[in-house]
Amino acid sequence: MRNITLKNGIEMPLLGFGVLQIKNQEKCEQYVKEAVEIGYRMFDTAAAYGNERAVGNALKKVIEDGIVRRDELFVITKLWIKDAGETAAEIAFEESRKKLQLDYIDLYLVHQPYNDYYGAWRALEKLYQKGKIRAIGVSNFSAERLTDLCLNSRIRPMVNQIEMHPFYHQDQAIRTMRELGVQPQAWAPLCEGMKNIFSNKVLEKIGKRYGKSAAQTALRWNLDRQVSIVTKSTRLDHMREDFDIWDFSLSQSDRKLMDQLDLGYSEILDYGNPNIAKLFIQKKICREIEKDV
Ligand SMILES: NC(=O)c1ccc[n+]([C@@H]2O[C@H](COP(=O)([O-])OP(=O)(O)OC[C@H]3O[C@@H](n4cnc5c(N)ncnc54)[C@H](OP(=O)(O)O)[C@@H]3O)[C@@H](O)[C@H]2O)c1
Repeated sequence: MRNITLKNGIEMPLLGFGVLQIKNQEKCEQYVKEAVEIGYRMFDTAAAYGNERAVGNALKKVIEDGIVRRDELFVITKLWIKDAGETAAEIAFEESRKKLQLDYIDLYLVHQPYNDYYGAWRALEKLYQKGKIRAIGVSNFSAERLTDLCLNSRIRPMVNQIEMHPFYHQDQAIRTMRELGVQPQAWAPLCEGMKNIFSNKVLEKIGKRYGKSAAQTALRWNLDRQVSIVTKSTRLDHMREDFDIWDFSLSQSDRKLMDQLDLGYSEILDYGNPNIAKLFIQKKICREIEKDV
């Protein structure tokens, strides 16, 4: 596992394991435990995923069994839209922390740029200063919303977790984050398995040069741009494959070849579409909650 240093000096693993849409508590515990055994140290959940307790149970067990120490783990969770606002965010944080059964959270993110996220941010700043959170950040913040928050808050977000994969590079968003000292982190680094990513000809061709699969090539490409990633799998062989990306690096010419895959927009979620905001806020879509893997 390799780490990256956040603006506040905290070390964050470059690769993490996410548990989106894994609502079955027993399965979630099992996958997290298996991921720890493979070597994953960063875990990404959210209040909206409905599985913080299962993640907490699994982590408690691996710590008790001596497989890993708490200080070797990096646990991320997120504040949902309905809990924005200063007081509500403090309460929601405490609920998440208790479900995760941890004394502190490594990274707490404002999940969506909706509702009173300035109030939420003030709560996060307070919790950070009290030592209950080691790093604070946001998710799904566009370059302009992120800039506004950075320039109008006492403590800047240390991370912005957004969609980034070979079909959506987000170069401008990354440039803005770098200028602001915010670490980019990718969700759906495998494009949620869409667009036949695992048999994509360009990824396969590049991967072949290093003896790696299309999935490994896609993941490594983000790491090579110093973008932290959280990926998900419910299969042991895939979890192992996704973790086996430390012994190669894409050449400059291969990185150039990746440019042809960039669509420049998302086919998963268009945050520029006001209907998406409406649906999120009205809870008509909360993909995190709906699906059960
Ligand atoms: N902040 C946000 O708003 C937000 C939004 C979305 C996601 N996230 C986070 O990011 C994490 C990852 O994103 P994601 O789960 O949406 O998508 P993803 O990691 O891009 O893709 C997951 C899909 O890829 C498959 N897969 C994984 N490794 C594979 C391999 N080596 N070969 C073939 N198939 C493979 C998985 O199927 P199998 O189970 O069959 O392996 C699964 O269907 C989430 O779990 C969550 O923690 C955050």
